[in-house]
Amino acid sequence: MDIKINKIPVEELKPKPAKDTQLGFGKIFTDYMFTMNYEEGKGWFDPAIRKYENIALSPSAIVLHYGQEVFEGMKGYLRADGKIGLFRPERNFRRFNNSAKRLCMPTVPIEDQKQALFELLKLERDWIPQSENATIYIRPNMIATDPELGVKPSGSYLYYIILSPSGAYFSRGFLPVTVFVPEKYIRAAIGGIGTAKTGGNYAASLLAGEEAKEKGCDQVLWLDAKERRYVEEVGSMNICFVINNRIVTSELDGAILEGVTRDSVIVLARHLGYEVEERHISIDEIIDGIKSGELAECFGCGTAAVISPVGKLMYKDEIYKVSDEPGPISIQLFKELTDIQWGRKEDTFGWTVIVD
Ligand code: COI
Repeated sequence: MDIKINKIPVEELKPKPAKDTQLGFGKIFTDYMFTMNYEEGKGWFDPAIRKYENIALSPSAIVLHYGQEVFEGMKGYLRADGKIGLFRPERNFRRFNNSAKRLCMPTVPIEDQKQALFELLKLERDWIPQSENATIYIRPNMIATDPELGVKPSGSYLYYIILSPSGAYFSRGFLPVTVFVPEKYIRAAIGGIGTAKTGGNYAASLLAGEEAKEKGCDQVLWLDAKERRYVEEVGSMNICFVINNRIVTSELDGAILEGVTRDSVIVLARHLGYEVEERHISIDEIIDGIKSGELAECFGCGTAAVISPVGKLMYKDEIYKVSDEPGPISIQLFKELTDIQWGRKEDTFGWTVIVD
C-alpha cells in the first residue's frame, strides 16, 4: 500500500499534553489520522495520513441513519527500551474484519491495517505518553458513506484510524467498581450483533448505563437476552469471577464480544496454574457464591479497562458485596499482563509486536 503523507505545517501542530496532565480516556487526539476510501467495484483507494480534522459526510450517509459501522480498540505502549509496543494487534485486525463481515461491510487486508497503524504511530511517536499509567489509545473505525435512505449495505466506506493519548478508563483507577445488573434491558441476543464491535451495541447500552448511574453504580453487568439468568459481559469489558480459587468467565456463546484481554487472561491464568472455566454462569450462582464466601473476586477485562476489579453488584435493588479492595488474583493478573504489555517482563507468549 502506498500511503500518501500530507504533512501539516509545524506552526499548525497542536501542543502536546504536559507529562503530568490527567489525560482522562479518549478526550485528546493527535495531529494526524489515517484515512482510506472504498467503493464497490474499485476496492480500497487513496490511503493517506493527514491532519486530524472533521470529516465531510452527507446528512443522508447510511452510517448516520442505520448505524452501519464497526470499530476496534487497541493500545500502544512506550516501553522502557524506548520502543513502541502493541499487544496482540493481529487479533484486533481479525476481529475488525469479522465485525465488518457481520455488518455487510468490506474487510480491510490485515497487512494494510498493520501498515497504516505502524506508519501513523511512527509519525505520532511524540504523542505517546511517557507515564506508566497512560498509553496511546488506538481507534480504527469504518463507516458507511453512501448518501441514501434505503435500508441496504452501503457501496462506499471510509476507514480511518485516530489516536488518543489516554489514562485509565475508570477515573477511580484500580479501585473496585460497582455494577448494576438490570432485568429490564439486554445488550444483545444470540444471532444478533453482540459479537461485533459496532456502535449499535454501545448505543443499546446507554439507557441501562444511565439507570446504573442514578443508582450509584459505575457500569452495567448484562444478563442473557432469553432467560435473563446468565451473565454475559460488562459495559466495556468481559467479566471473570474467582470461585473456589477457579477463574470462571462467560463462554463465547454468540452474544458476547470475543475480548483480546479476556483471551489473554485465560491463557495467563492457566499458565500461572489456575483452573479456568468458560461456561454459562447464572446470577443466582454468583449471589450464592458471594453469600457463602466461595466467590472471592470479580473483575472485568478489556483493552481500555485492562483488569478492573468489581467490588459490588446491584441486583433487584439489593447490593451484594464481593470486596472493597482488589483481590490477590486480580492484582496478580493485572501485574503479569501489564508487565508483558509494557515490556517489563519477557513475553514468552509471543504477544508483543514492536512498531519500531
Ligand atoms: C476497548 O476496550 O478498547 C473498547 O473498545 C471498549 C470501549 C467501548 C471503551
